Amino acid sequence: MTNDIMKVLLSKEDIDTRVIELGKEISERFEGTEPLFIGILKGSFIFMADLIRNVNLKCSMDFMAVSSYGAGTTTSGAVKINKDLNEDIAGRHVIIVEDILDSGVTLSYLCGYLQNRKPASITLVTLLDKPARRKSPIKADFVGFEVPDEFVVGYGLDYAEKYRNLPFVGVLKPEIYSD
Ligand code: PRP
Repeated sequence: MTNDIMKVLLSKEDIDTRVIELGKEISERFEGTEPLFIGILKGSFIFMADLIRNVNLKCSMDFMAVSSYGAGTTTSGAVKINKDLNEDIAGRHVIIVEDILDSGVTLSYLCGYLQNRKPASITLVTLLDKPARRKSPIKADFVGFEVPDEFVVGYGLDYAEKYRNLPFVGVLKPEIYSD
């Protein structure tokens, strides 16, 4: 599997260090509250699991699964909800956890969708941010790393559902996805 990787962009150590920092920053920001962390499946599952173990708050967790309509991402903002929340978020501080903010279509849609349920606040956390690809004007409140516009996989991120289990974030060899 690692033979398919052209280069390591973020090592396990890079990620571990940053996730500890993010956990501390979020713990400080939300001190005295009991926020609800919402992981967006599938990509965020590893980041979510590591992040919340570095958060020193009495918090709860839920998950949503979403997918874009059609091939690729469009500016239409059409996002399909495959699994919705189990918890009521009215009056709650909600922290959305993503693996990557790319075009921004998914998070823009989700923010509007969840805002209708009257949470106390919505905060966006993303491990990776690819600002070069943005189509929707959206910014994350907490960003792990800004990354260039390259095909990144690992630590939850996939190509054709593979490579999510790599412990680092790497760039896929072009011949893998251009076959
Ligand atoms: C990825 C990622 C975000 C979305 C970001 O999910 O996890 O949800 O794309 O892209 P955007 O900013 O262009 O909307 P993906 O659809 O690949 O599903 P997955 O999490 O199941 O891999």
